[in-house]
This record gives sequence, C-alpha cells and structure tokens, in this order.
Amino acid sequence: MQFQNTRAFACELDQQDELRSFRDEFIMPVINGRQQIYFLGNSLGLQPKRTKEYLQQVLNKWANYGVEGFFMGEEPWLQYHDHLTGPLSAIVGALPHEVVAMNQLTVNLHLLLVSFYKPDQKRYKIICEAKAFPSDQYMLETHVKYCGLNPDEVLIEVGPRAGEHTIRHEDILHAIQQHKDELALVLWGGLNYYTGQLFDMAAITKAAQAVGAKVGFDLAHAAGNVPLQLHNWNVDFAAWCSYKYINSGPGGIGGAYIHERYHNDTSLPRFAGWWGYDKATRFLMQKGFNPTRTAEGWQLSTPSPLLYSMHRAALDLFTEAGFDKLQKKRQLLNQWLWFLLDELNNEQKAPVVEFITPRNEAERGCQVSMLMLQQGKQVFDELARAGVIVDWREPNVIRLAPVPLYNSFEEVWQFTNILRQILQLQHA
Ligand SMILES: Cc1ncc(COP(=O)(O)O)c(C=O)c1O
Repeated sequence: MQFQNTRAFACELDQQDELRSFRDEFIMPVINGRQQIYFLGNSLGLQPKRTKEYLQQVLNKWANYGVEGFFMGEEPWLQYHDHLTGPLSAIVGALPHEVVAMNQLTVNLHLLLVSFYKPDQKRYKIICEAKAFPSDQYMLETHVKYCGLNPDEVLIEVGPRAGEHTIRHEDILHAIQQHKDELALVLWGGLNYYTGQLFDMAAITKAAQAVGAKVGFDLAHAAGNVPLQLHNWNVDFAAWCSYKYINSGPGGIGGAYIHERYHNDTSLPRFAGWWGYDKATRFLMQKGFNPTRTAEGWQLSTPSPLLYSMHRAALDLFTEAGFDKLQKKRQLLNQWLWFLLDELNNEQKAPVVEFITPRNEAERGCQVSMLMLQQGKQVFDELARAGVIVDWREPNVIRLAPVPLYNSFEEVWQFTNILRQILQLQHA
C-alpha cells in the first residue's frame, strides 16, 4: 500500500478497518482529564469493558451459592476452564487439550522445567537468550542450582554479535550443534521483550530436537501478538502470561502448553497438586497422584474463578474479532508506524533514532524498539507529558506496541506528529 503522511489518510485507514468497532470494547486510559494514546499492550493490555460484567457474575455466584458455586447454577466454576481452552489453543496454535490456564508465567516455567529438564551426567546444558527477561534468568539460575548444578557450567547464553542488537538465527543453530552431545534443553523467548525480535520457533525446535534436546518457549511477548503453531512445530512445552497482548488484567492467570505426546507419560517428574488429579475422581481424595491426561494434569492449586472470568472476557474478544483478521490489521498498523517513523527520522539533520527491532516483517510483531541516539529520556518524558504512554527501558530504549484490538491508525499518526514536535523543539 502507498501510504501518505496525513491525518486524512490515517482516518481513511481507520474507516476501512473492519475491526475498528473493537476499540469501543476497551476502556481508554484518561489521565488528568486527557485521553491517552496507549501503546503499551506489550506491557499491560487495556481493560475490556465487559471484564467488569464477567467478574461481577463470579462475585454474584460466590454471594449466592458460596462454595456451591463450584457445582451449581449457570456455569459452575468446576467447568469454567472449558471456556478458556478453545480460544487459548487458537491463539497459541495447539490442540485444546494441550493448553491450560494456570498460575503465572515464571511459576509455570519452573513447573515445566521439573518435567522437561532432567539433567544427567551426559546431557545437562541449557541454551538460552543472553539478557533474557530477568525473571527467566533468575528462574534458570535458581532451577539449575536446585538441580545441584552450577549455572556457569550449564547455561549457554547466545546473544547478539558485537555491534549488533538482535540475535542471528544461525548463531542459535550453531550453538545447538556445538553443544549437541551435552544439550538437554533449549529455553528461548518467542519474541524478545527488549528488541521486539521474533524468533523462528519452528527452526529452533527442529534443530534442538534433532540433537536430542527438549525445547520450550517463553511466549510472554508472542502470545496474542503473532501467529503461533506450537503443535505443528512440535514444540515440547511453552508458557505465557495473559496480561500483555491478551488483556486479561494485571497479574492475570498465566498459561501453559504441553505437547500431547507427554500427557500419558506418568513417568515424567512433576510437582503435583490436587487440581492436576484425574478430574473424574479428584473428589474421592485418594492416595497416590493420578494426573488428568491432558495439559490440565500440570495444575496444582484451586484456580481463581475471578481470574478465569477476566481471562474469558478478553479471550471472547479474540474469538469475535478473529485471529486472522487481527493479524492482517497488526501488519498494516505496524507497516504504517514504520513508514511514519522512517519519514520522521529521515527528516532530521542527523538520525535521532536507531530501530533495534528487525525490519524484516517475519521477525517482528506489534512492538517497535527505538534506540534513542540523543536525549532519549527527555523525549520520553515529553511524550508522557503530551499524553502518550510508551515505555522506557534502560539505558536508552523507548518501546511501543500499537495493537490491532484497540489502537487506531489515527493514533499512530498522532503519536509520530507529537514526536516530531518534540524533536523540533529539542533541535531548534
Ligand atoms: C519475557 C518475560 N518473561 C517472564 C516475565 C515474568 O512474568 P510473570 O511476572 O508473570 O512471572 C515477563 C514479564 O513481563 C516477560 O516479559
């Protein structure tokens, strides 16, 4: 499409957007009386208007039935999870019985490592991203120590080459080959939180499994953002959070995927709890753990119907919008953003921004990370003053992620216009 840098053109794109009505399904933040341009769906997705109603239904049920809410009335909580697995599996490209909504992301990664990281004398190494999100780093460090091993000897970090910002796929594949005889696991982020780089999960999975290692992905920044095919890619396991692109609320319930080939393998180690017990006989309260033979068998504790309901409100919106349509809009919104940012950068006497997100569309999702070459923090502060919510990541990166469910083409235009004014003032 031939873009034009005008508000009128932006409005035309909005007019042609068949998903534009979904914006009205969300509450737009208003700070000090001013509606914000919210581009942080990669951090905390906005609140769907219907979330309150879904939550209220659970609160009413609790009020009316007490504990019987698990068993009685419309939609007993015992079966509530069944409403989540269909839409969730569509988002991550899995079979419905391969996904489970439970716990939170870091907790789930620890639990999945219990099953999928079984170091022995020969195979004990883990390949991971250098500078992965800190929680993943702490999780790996402490999990490896828990296994009685030294993280310095176990963790093989692959990072960008000197002078580069993103990680070359060939370097990941090379590391897999290099450590093939000792490699137990590749644990990788689907989309890097800092640079916005999307990885080729199919290729990583194939390469790691070819040398006999297991493969898991942290999909915090990929789930609900980019198309995923976990089952077809043959990924062993994955985990994600629901509060970013999936809009299920701060601290919302996390999710996990476990390939179906493991569901009947009761020899796999796991940390169990009663909620993972065979559903049909859970309440017989018998001795000896007998798991549900689906991903739900990895659950431990009683889940919160309150968190479930917030998750469901958001998932229903994905179903109504349709994931394919969302993907189409995501791409166009993202191309529009890049077009405007490129124009803006090229107008400056000297470039003020270096984009560290890959330009190749197959290697990015909604997010654009801008390395600010001069006065980045001032630019960020001015954006906040002008009612634009993006984020600042030390030492000098502004991240933003317009999302197809609730952001408009006009907002993207407004944002770049505000940014232009800030830069003009700074460099006048
Ligand atoms: C890539 C990544 N991994 C892990 C986490 C931690 O998630 P949680 O706090 O839900 O455990 C985050 C949080 O933003 C993240 O972005």
